[in-house]
Amino acid sequence: MIRGSATLQTVTLSGVTTTSSTVLGGPSLPQERRLVTAVPGPRSLEKLARRARHVAAGVGTTLPVFVEAAGGGVLVDADGNSLIDLASGIAVASVGNSAPHVVERVIEQTRAFTHTCFMVTPYDVYVDVCEKLAELTPGDHEKRSALLNSGAEAVENAVKIARAFTGRTAVAVVDHAYHGRTNLTMAMTAKNMPYKHSFGPFAGEVYRAPMSYPFREPTEISGIAAADRAIDVLEKQVGAGNLACLVIEPILGEGGFVVPAPGFLPRLKEWTEANGIVFVADEIQTGFCRTGDWFASDHEGVVPDLVTTAKGIAGGFPLAAVTGRADVMDAVHVGGLGGTYGGNPVACAAALGSIETMRELDLVGRARRIGDLVGSALRGIAEKHPAVGDVRGRGAMQAVEIVGADGHTPDPARAGAVSAYCHSQGVVTLTCGTYGNVLRFLPPLVAPEALLTEGFEVVAAAFDATA
Ligand SMILES: Cc1ncc(COP(=O)(O)O)c(C=O)c1O
Repeated sequence: MIRGSATLQTVTLSGVTTTSSTVLGGPSLPQERRLVTAVPGPRSLEKLARRARHVAAGVGTTLPVFVEAAGGGVLVDADGNSLIDLASGIAVASVGNSAPHVVERVIEQTRAFTHTCFMVTPYDVYVDVCEKLAELTPGDHEKRSALLNSGAEAVENAVKIARAFTGRTAVAVVDHAYHGRTNLTMAMTAKNMPYKHSFGPFAGEVYRAPMSYPFREPTEISGIAAADRAIDVLEKQVGAGNLACLVIEPILGEGGFVVPAPGFLPRLKEWTEANGIVFVADEIQTGFCRTGDWFASDHEGVVPDLVTTAKGIAGGFPLAAVTGRADVMDAVHVGGLGGTYGGNPVACAAALGSIETMRELDLVGRARRIGDLVGSALRGIAEKHPAVGDVRGRGAMQAVEIVGADGHTPDPARAGAVSAYCHSQGVVTLTCGTYGNVLRFLPPLVAPEALLTEGFEVVAAAFDATA
């Protein structure tokens, strides 16, 4: 049972009624911040000691509380604390944990069958997800999709597809990029610690170009000029004719929620098109309503050749996809794409429930309203605290960059202190950025406004307490 609550819970899903004394999450959880112990509390501490005995030390944890239920905008831990979730499990639980349509479809699918391997015998839900991806991703051209398990796997497959289509090998990425932790995607990821350190050698034929990072440009530079700077590096150092693809996050995720200057992405797209280079938008963090549009590429009308998705696609189930131009996708020989679990039927059912929720609750509109609320809370903090060098983001993907007294030098220690204060007060926050000095906010898109307002009051108090 949920700690602090003594009642049995009864739920009816797809006509089946279950009475349970075990933990139940979903949107019916009380949407409140409630601290009954220190964070982490004694039960979480006990579980942490067990974790240390059995889980590899390299698997890190941001906030060491063990979760027993989650839903809407809260996580309930083993001690009965109810925490405000400003992280969504890193942009995954956009529809909220245990969202009703996701739960219903998953139960129904699990009862029918759980795995055949799409490469052995196909099934409808895989094709249904591909059909939805064609509808929702930018552009109304003919598209195909391949379904995978994780974001990194989707990025790897996008590169394979681009290489098969172009007959070229080189891959272009940008500074501060994050694309995953597999061997190829580590090579594509910019930051050494903790993602790459001691894990080399890395895959070859990956080339890095300068990104548009408005807050850290030595002098103001337009998006088009920043794109031309990147193009110049790639043309001089690689040669456009050797490039299979350019892979880029329309808004950098782990790299610091950097929104490139307007015109940067459209200019890069124009150049890739003119040079037969496949433009891959990595929308793994930005996709599925997060930025106040279905995809972040939509904001500037950029139509990528390929789009990689994962995270928010399936309400917490492991699913990822590469979606794009039919001629590019179909360039791969039969049998060249796939994997045992890619497009698992239960994960596909979860994706259909998740997309249904996004449409039914207009989570695009909701992400925009969250953007207004969070943006104004963060600007209020910035007015009071010069340590906030920059407030940026789109929709429900917002961040502040923390700097020292000179207004420029990254201050990761302060970012860590602010975050630690939030954790101690029952608010789940994350940091990111090449310099580790960015506080990022990714609330579930279904979190009630009053709860978010309270969450950002705690963030403001954290700046006061650490000044
Ligand atoms: C933009 C981007 N690409 C790729 C990945 C890798 O996804 P996964 O962790 O599912 O492999 C991430 C994960 O944070 C991401 O944000």
